[in-house]
Amino acid sequence: MLSYKHAFHAGNHADVIKHLGWIAVIDYLCKKNKPFTLFDTHAGAGQYSLDDEQASKNSEYESGIARLVDTAMAEPLVEKYLTLCGEFYQQHYYPGSPVIAATLLRDNDQLHVMELHPAEIPKLQASLKGLARGQVHIHHRDGLEGLNALAPPSPVRGAVLIDPPYELLSEYQSVTDTVNAILKKWAQAQIVIWYPLLSARAGQKSGCSERMVEALTESGKTAFTAELHVADNSSDTGMYGSGLLFINPSWQLDTQLTDALNAIAPALGDNIKVSVTWRKRESA
Ligand SMILES: C[S@@+](CC[C@H](N)C(=O)[O-])C[C@H]1O[C@@H](n2cnc3c(N)ncnc32)[C@H](O)[C@@H]1O
Repeated sequence: MLSYKHAFHAGNHADVIKHLGWIAVIDYLCKKNKPFTLFDTHAGAGQYSLDDEQASKNSEYESGIARLVDTAMAEPLVEKYLTLCGEFYQQHYYPGSPVIAATLLRDNDQLHVMELHPAEIPKLQASLKGLARGQVHIHHRDGLEGLNALAPPSPVRGAVLIDPPYELLSEYQSVTDTVNAILKKWAQAQIVIWYPLLSARAGQKSGCSERMVEALTESGKTAFTAELHVADNSSDTGMYGSGLLFINPSWQLDTQLTDALNAIAPALGDNIKVSVTWRKRESA
Protein backbone atom coordinates (compact mmCIF):
# COMPACT_ATOMS: atom_id res chain seq x y z
CA MET A 1 0.00 0.00 0.00
CA LEU A 2 2.75 2.45 1.07
CA SER A 3 0.61 5.59 1.09
CA TYR A 4 1.79 6.70 4.55
CA LYS A 5 4.21 9.63 4.57
CA HIS A 6 5.73 10.49 7.91
CA ALA A 7 6.40 14.09 6.84
CA PHE A 8 2.73 14.89 7.56
CA HIS A 9 3.22 13.91 11.21
CA ALA A 10 6.83 14.89 11.96
CA GLY A 11 7.36 16.23 15.46
CA ASN A 12 3.84 15.46 16.71
CA HIS A 13 3.00 14.02 20.16
CA ALA A 14 3.57 10.46 18.89
CA ASP A 15 7.09 11.37 17.72
CA VAL A 16 7.77 13.00 21.08
CA ILE A 17 7.05 9.87 23.16
CA LYS A 18 8.67 7.57 20.59
CA HIS A 19 11.88 9.55 20.35
CA LEU A 20 12.13 10.10 24.11
CA GLY A 21 11.92 6.32 24.53
CA TRP A 22 14.42 5.59 21.75
CA ILE A 23 16.94 8.10 23.13
CA ALA A 24 16.62 6.56 26.61
CA VAL A 25 17.34 3.09 25.22
CA ILE A 26 20.38 4.24 23.22
CA ASP A 27 21.64 6.36 26.09
CA TYR A 28 21.69 3.33 28.38
CA LEU A 29 23.60 1.28 25.78
CA CYS A 30 26.16 4.11 25.59
CA LYS A 31 26.85 3.85 29.32
CA LYS A 32 29.04 0.77 28.77
CA ASN A 33 32.21 0.93 26.76
CA LYS A 34 31.08 -2.02 24.60
CA PRO A 35 29.81 -1.64 21.03
CA PHE A 36 26.16 -2.21 20.16
CA THR A 37 23.89 -2.74 17.15
CA LEU A 38 20.67 -0.82 16.52
CA PHE A 39 17.89 -1.70 14.09
CA ASP A 40 15.25 0.78 12.93
CA THR A 41 12.79 -1.30 10.89
CA HIS A 42 10.60 1.54 9.58
CA ALA A 43 12.98 4.46 9.10
CA GLY A 44 11.11 7.11 7.11
CA ALA A 45 13.07 9.97 5.52
CA GLY A 46 15.49 10.53 8.41
CA GLN A 47 14.67 14.19 9.00
CA TYR A 48 11.89 16.57 8.01
CA SER A 49 11.68 20.22 7.04
CA LEU A 50 8.79 21.65 9.03
CA ASP A 51 8.28 24.24 6.31
CA ASP A 52 7.63 21.81 3.49
CA GLU A 53 4.15 21.30 2.09
CA GLN A 54 3.50 17.98 3.82
CA ALA A 55 4.67 18.97 7.32
CA SER A 56 2.91 22.32 7.16
CA LYS A 57 -0.39 20.84 5.90
CA ASN A 58 -1.67 20.16 9.44
CA SER A 59 1.41 21.46 11.30
CA GLU A 60 1.16 18.57 13.75
CA TYR A 61 4.51 19.58 15.24
CA GLU A 62 2.80 22.61 16.75
CA SER A 63 1.09 20.40 19.33
CA GLY A 64 4.27 18.34 19.84
CA ILE A 65 7.88 19.51 19.69
CA ALA A 66 6.94 23.20 19.25
CA ARG A 67 5.35 23.24 22.72
CA LEU A 68 8.51 21.88 24.33
CA VAL A 69 11.47 23.27 22.49
CA ASP A 70 11.56 26.67 24.19
CA THR A 71 10.90 25.37 27.68
CA ALA A 72 13.74 24.92 30.14
CA MET A 73 13.26 21.42 31.50
CA ALA A 74 15.78 20.03 33.93
CA GLU A 75 14.50 16.45 33.75
CA PRO A 76 17.59 14.68 32.29
CA LEU A 77 15.94 12.61 29.53
CA VAL A 78 13.78 15.52 28.37
CA GLU A 79 16.81 17.80 28.42
CA LYS A 80 18.73 15.35 26.25
CA TYR A 81 15.80 15.06 23.80
CA LEU A 82 15.34 18.83 23.60
CA THR A 83 19.05 19.52 23.18
CA LEU A 84 19.22 17.03 20.30
CA CYS A 85 15.98 18.19 18.63
CA GLY A 86 16.64 21.86 19.39
CA GLU A 87 19.63 21.91 17.03
CA PHE A 88 17.41 20.75 14.17
CA TYR A 89 14.46 22.87 15.24
CA GLN A 90 16.55 26.04 15.01
CA GLN A 91 16.69 25.38 11.25
CA HIS A 92 12.98 24.42 11.38
CA TYR A 93 13.72 20.73 10.93
CA TYR A 94 12.71 17.76 13.04
CA PRO A 95 15.01 14.70 13.32
CA GLY A 96 13.48 11.29 12.68
CA SER A 97 14.49 8.11 14.48
CA PRO A 98 17.41 7.27 12.09
CA VAL A 99 19.01 10.69 12.50
CA ILE A 100 18.51 10.58 16.27
CA ALA A 101 20.23 7.19 16.47
CA ALA A 102 23.03 8.22 14.09
CA THR A 103 23.71 11.31 16.19
CA LEU A 104 24.19 9.17 19.31
CA LEU A 105 26.27 6.41 17.68
CA ARG A 106 29.91 5.89 18.75
CA ASP A 107 32.86 4.75 16.61
CA ASN A 108 32.33 0.98 16.89
CA ASP A 109 28.51 0.93 16.98
CA GLN A 110 26.32 -0.23 14.09
CA LEU A 111 22.99 1.13 12.89
CA HIS A 112 20.75 -0.68 10.38
CA VAL A 113 17.87 1.40 9.04
CA MET A 114 15.22 -0.14 6.80
CA GLU A 115 12.64 1.54 4.62
CA LEU A 116 10.39 0.12 1.91
CA HIS A 117 9.10 3.26 0.19
CA PRO A 118 11.38 4.02 -2.80
CA ALA A 119 10.80 7.78 -2.54
CA GLU A 120 12.07 7.85 1.06
CA ILE A 121 15.40 6.12 0.34
CA PRO A 122 17.25 9.05 -1.31
CA LYS A 123 15.97 11.35 1.44
CA LEU A 124 17.18 8.91 4.07
CA GLN A 125 20.60 8.71 2.40
CA ALA A 126 20.86 12.49 2.29
CA SER A 127 19.72 12.86 5.93
CA LEU A 128 22.31 10.40 7.21
CA LYS A 129 25.23 11.50 5.05
CA GLY A 130 28.26 12.33 7.18
CA LEU A 131 26.25 12.34 10.38
CA ALA A 132 27.34 9.23 12.26
CA ARG A 133 30.65 8.25 13.79
CA GLY A 134 29.72 4.55 13.79
CA GLN A 135 28.65 2.49 10.79
CA VAL A 136 25.27 3.13 9.24
CA HIS A 137 23.66 0.64 6.84
CA ILE A 138 20.65 1.76 4.81
CA HIS A 139 18.47 -1.09 3.52
CA HIS A 140 15.74 -0.66 0.93
CA ARG A 141 13.67 -3.63 2.06
CA ASP A 142 10.77 -4.76 4.22
CA GLY A 143 11.82 -3.88 7.78
CA LEU A 144 10.44 -6.93 9.56
CA GLU A 145 11.85 -9.29 6.95
CA GLY A 146 15.22 -7.47 7.14
CA LEU A 147 15.33 -7.64 10.92
CA ASN A 148 14.58 -11.34 10.84
CA ALA A 149 17.32 -11.89 8.27
CA LEU A 150 20.00 -9.93 10.18
CA ALA A 151 19.30 -10.98 13.78
CA PRO A 152 21.16 -11.84 15.90
CA PRO A 153 23.68 -9.17 14.93
CA SER A 154 27.31 -8.67 15.79
CA PRO A 155 27.85 -6.93 18.16
CA VAL A 156 25.02 -8.79 19.86
CA ARG A 157 24.31 -6.07 22.45
CA GLY A 158 21.64 -3.92 21.02
CA ALA A 159 18.14 -2.68 20.46
CA VAL A 160 15.37 -2.53 17.87
CA LEU A 161 12.83 0.19 17.11
CA ILE A 162 9.69 -1.04 15.34
CA ASP A 163 7.57 1.85 14.13
CA PRO A 164 5.23 0.69 11.36
CA PRO A 165 2.53 2.87 9.81
CA TYR A 166 -0.16 0.24 10.69
CA GLU A 167 -1.90 1.04 7.40
CA LEU A 168 -2.84 -2.61 7.03
CA LEU A 169 -4.68 -4.58 9.68
CA SER A 170 -2.21 -7.41 9.11
CA GLU A 171 0.73 -5.31 10.36
CA TYR A 172 -0.21 -5.87 14.02
CA GLN A 173 0.08 -9.64 13.57
CA SER A 174 3.27 -9.32 11.50
CA VAL A 175 4.90 -7.34 14.30
CA THR A 176 3.89 -9.97 16.87
CA ASP A 177 5.13 -12.86 14.73
CA THR A 178 8.44 -11.14 13.94
CA VAL A 179 9.17 -10.11 17.53
CA ASN A 180 8.47 -13.64 18.77
CA ALA A 181 10.77 -15.07 16.09
CA ILE A 182 13.53 -12.55 16.92
CA LEU A 183 13.38 -13.27 20.64
CA LYS A 184 13.88 -16.98 19.97
CA LYS A 185 17.25 -16.35 18.35
CA TRP A 186 18.26 -13.05 19.97
CA ALA A 187 16.94 -13.47 23.49
CA GLN A 188 18.57 -10.38 24.99
CA ALA A 189 17.37 -7.92 22.31
CA GLN A 190 15.83 -4.78 23.72
CA ILE A 191 12.79 -4.16 21.55
CA VAL A 192 10.73 -0.98 21.40
CA ILE A 193 7.42 -1.08 19.55
CA TRP A 194 5.41 2.06 18.90
CA TYR A 195 1.62 1.65 18.66
CA PRO A 196 -1.33 4.00 18.09
CA LEU A 197 -4.25 4.22 20.53
CA LEU A 198 -7.34 4.28 18.35
CA SER A 199 -10.94 4.97 19.35
CA ALA A 200 -14.02 3.17 17.99
CA ARG A 201 -14.01 5.69 15.13
CA ALA A 202 -11.03 3.80 13.69
CA GLY A 203 -13.35 0.81 13.06
CA GLN A 204 -11.63 -2.56 12.83
CA LYS A 205 -8.27 -1.13 13.91
CA SER A 206 -9.65 0.00 17.27
CA GLY A 207 -8.33 -2.38 19.93
CA CYS A 208 -5.66 -3.91 17.66
CA SER A 209 -2.77 -2.26 19.53
CA GLU A 210 -4.08 -3.45 22.88
CA ARG A 211 -4.40 -7.01 21.54
CA MET A 212 -0.90 -6.84 20.05
CA VAL A 213 0.56 -5.72 23.40
CA GLU A 214 -1.27 -8.59 25.16
CA ALA A 215 0.04 -11.12 22.66
CA LEU A 216 3.59 -9.80 22.87
CA THR A 217 3.71 -9.97 26.65
CA GLU A 218 2.99 -13.69 26.39
CA SER A 219 6.59 -14.11 25.20
CA GLY A 220 7.51 -14.27 28.89
CA LYS A 221 10.12 -11.50 28.60
CA THR A 222 10.01 -8.54 30.97
CA ALA A 223 7.98 -5.76 29.44
CA PHE A 224 6.28 -2.47 30.22
CA THR A 225 4.27 0.08 28.29
CA ALA A 226 4.50 3.86 28.38
CA GLU A 227 1.56 5.83 26.96
CA LEU A 228 0.68 9.44 26.27
CA HIS A 229 -3.04 10.15 25.91
CA VAL A 230 -3.67 13.51 24.27
CA ALA A 231 -7.47 13.29 24.07
CA ASP A 232 -10.31 11.28 25.56
CA ASN A 233 -11.08 7.91 24.04
CA SER A 234 -14.38 9.07 22.56
CA SER A 235 -16.14 8.79 19.25
CA ASP A 236 -14.83 12.27 18.28
CA THR A 237 -11.23 11.21 18.18
CA GLY A 238 -9.46 8.80 15.87
CA MET A 239 -6.01 8.45 17.40
CA TYR A 240 -6.28 9.64 21.00
CA GLY A 241 -2.67 8.93 21.88
CA SER A 242 0.07 6.41 21.44
CA GLY A 243 2.35 4.14 23.37
CA LEU A 244 5.59 2.23 23.42
CA LEU A 245 6.00 -1.37 24.44
CA PHE A 246 9.49 -2.04 25.82
CA ILE A 247 10.59 -5.69 25.85
CA ASN A 248 13.71 -6.57 27.87
CA PRO A 249 13.93 -2.98 29.13
CA SER A 250 17.12 -1.72 30.72
CA TRP A 251 17.32 -0.98 34.43
CA GLN A 252 15.24 2.01 35.57
CA LEU A 253 13.94 2.77 32.09
CA ASP A 254 10.41 2.75 33.53
CA THR A 255 11.18 5.47 36.09
CA GLN A 256 13.09 7.49 33.50
CA LEU A 257 10.09 7.40 31.16
CA THR A 258 7.65 8.18 33.97
CA ASP A 259 9.67 11.23 35.01
CA ALA A 260 10.15 12.43 31.45
CA LEU A 261 6.49 12.04 30.43
CA ASN A 262 5.25 13.70 33.61
CA ALA A 263 7.64 16.58 32.97
CA ILE A 264 6.41 17.23 29.42
CA ALA A 265 2.68 16.55 29.93
CA PRO A 266 1.70 20.01 31.30
CA ALA A 267 3.52 21.74 28.44
CA LEU A 268 1.76 19.60 25.83
CA GLY A 269 -1.75 20.53 26.99
CA ASP A 270 -4.37 20.52 29.73
CA ASN A 271 -5.80 17.04 29.28
CA ILE A 272 -2.67 15.02 28.70
CA LYS A 273 -2.52 11.73 30.56
CA VAL A 274 0.56 9.64 31.11
CA SER A 275 0.76 6.00 32.11
CA VAL A 276 3.65 3.60 32.60
CA THR A 277 2.52 0.03 33.28
CA TRP A 278 4.49 -3.13 33.87
CA ARG A 279 3.08 -5.99 31.75
CA LYS A 280 5.54 -8.66 32.79
CA ARG A 281 8.05 -8.34 35.57
CA GLU A 282 11.08 -10.52 36.22
CA SER A 283 9.83 -13.48 38.26
CA ALA A 284 11.10 -13.29 41.82
C1 LIG B 1 5.93 5.94 11.10
S1 LIG B 1 6.99 6.06 9.73
C2 LIG B 1 8.58 5.93 10.43
C3 LIG B 1 9.04 7.12 11.20
C4 LIG B 1 10.41 6.96 11.81
N1 LIG B 1 10.56 5.70 12.52
C5 LIG B 1 10.71 8.09 12.78
O1 LIG B 1 10.41 7.98 13.97
O2 LIG B 1 11.26 9.11 12.33
C6 LIG B 1 6.80 4.50 8.97
C7 LIG B 1 7.67 4.30 7.73
O3 LIG B 1 7.61 2.91 7.40
C8 LIG B 1 7.69 2.79 5.99
N2 LIG B 1 7.21 1.45 5.66
C9 LIG B 1 5.94 1.03 5.39
N3 LIG B 1 5.91 -0.30 5.24
C10 LIG B 1 7.19 -0.74 5.44
C11 LIG B 1 7.80 -2.02 5.46
N4 LIG B 1 7.08 -3.13 5.23
N5 LIG B 1 9.12 -2.10 5.72
C12 LIG B 1 9.86 -0.97 5.95
N6 LIG B 1 9.33 0.27 5.94
C13 LIG B 1 8.02 0.38 5.70
C14 LIG B 1 6.86 3.94 5.50
O4 LIG B 1 7.20 4.26 4.16
C15 LIG B 1 7.22 5.05 6.50
O5 LIG B 1 8.31 5.80 6.00
